[in-house]
Order: sequence, then structure tokens, then C-alpha cells
Amino acid sequence: MIPVLAIDGPSGSGKGAVGMAVARRLGWHYLDSGAVYRALGLAASWAGVAYDDEARLCDLARRLDLRFVAADDGEPAVFANGRECGALLRSPEAANAASRLAALKSVREALLDRQRAARRPPGLVADGRDMGSHVFPDAFLKVFLTASAEVRAQRRYDQLKAKGFGVTLPQLIQEIRERDERDASRAVAPLKPAEGAVVLDSSALGLQDVVDRVLAMAGSRR
Ligand code: DC
Repeated sequence: MIPVLAIDGPSGSGKGAVGMAVARRLGWHYLDSGAVYRALGLAASWAGVAYDDEARLCDLARRLDLRFVAADDGEPAVFANGRECGALLRSPEAANAASRLAALKSVREALLDRQRAARRPPGLVADGRDMGSHVFPDAFLKVFLTASAEVRAQRRYDQLKAKGFGVTLPQLIQEIRERDERDASRAVAPLKPAEGAVVLDSSALGLQDVVDRVLAMAGSRR
């Protein structure tokens, strides 16, 4: 049985940085499931498919040719249907598109096998919203990573500014609240801790502290 460590949580909780660091330390594969939804959002926008056109989105999701190409700086280059997503993948537009189409059950189902295929030896660290609850319910460790909306918005602000996006902090706090609300209140796979998940609030913790805690929990479970 290939072990899976699931890290779920809201936007800006640090899942991505923590997940990548933990995967590197363990020598395991890493799945950024948010990037799958974001890439689909971009592919939909490039193809002129509306975010509520469930049938066409589902078709697009099934056929999506998605490739992650490893890069030296840690973040892989992502290609959707042959087109490089580049910095757009992390844009607020891609995040909003992802959040909208992620609310559609058939679209989520269409992306399921693709995510499960990332489970390869020697193990997988998977980050997202429903890794522990739906995609990998047998994960040996489920972490629900969270932080206050203000702290998460500040982290996103720093990341987006560094990438050259023109954003303001109040705008990001507002967007994060709206996205949390949409992700938490949707009928399918709502954002909430999976059964048996360890809730970890990273508001007052540095990245290394969180990574160390997750690794310690993983070590004691295995
Ligand atoms: O983690 P992120 O910010 O890259 O995710 C972008 C959006 O995708 C987020 O608003 C919700 C959705 N998402 C999801 O519904 N399920 C996942 N497993 C990952 C992301």
C-alpha cells in the first residue's frame, strides 16, 4: 500500500509550501491538486467555456492534457493542453475560476482518477481541500492546516506582489473571505477537516515549525 499524507486547508494556509517541503524531506511525490483546478480554470477561459457550463467543463476536465514539468526552484511549470500556464496559474483570476468550477460535482468526479494516479511509490504528499476526505480517504495522516483570514491574505499578498501582480491587502482579505465562504458552503466536498484530521493553526508558526510538526506526526504514525 503506497502511503499518502494529506494536507488540506483554505487558501493561504501554507499547504503548498508545507506540502512541498514535507515531500522533499520524505523523498515522496507531491500533488498540488489546487493547480489541477486552476489549470482547468485557465483552460476553460482559453477555450471560452463559461464557469457554470457543467457539461462542457466536464468534457474539458476529462480531456485535459495536464503536464507538470519539474523546475529547479521548486515550483514546476504547468502546461494545460500544450499551453504553459506560467504566472497566470497563481493569479487571482485562476483562483476564482478554480473555486467556481470546483463547486460542480461532475467536474470534481472527472478530475478524481487523475489525482489518484499521482499515488506512486514510495509515497505521496497531497495538498488541497478534499485530499483526506474524498480523494485519499485512507491517507495515514490527515492534516487540516489553517490560519486567520488576515494572516492568509498577508501571505498571499507577499507572494503575489513578488510575482508582480497589482493587488491590495484589503482586496485580498475580501477575496479570501468570499472564496472560503464559497469553498466551505458548497454541497460537494466542502472545505472542512476530514474525519480524523489533525487541525493545525499556522497563524503564529513559521514554515519550518509547521514542516517539523507534520514530519514528527508522520514519523510517529508510521
Ligand atoms: O489551493 P488553491 O488556492 O490553489 O485552490 C484553488 C481553488 O481550487 C480553491 O478555491 C478550491 C479549489 N480546490 C478544490 O476545490 N479542491 C481541491 N482539492 C483543490 C482546490
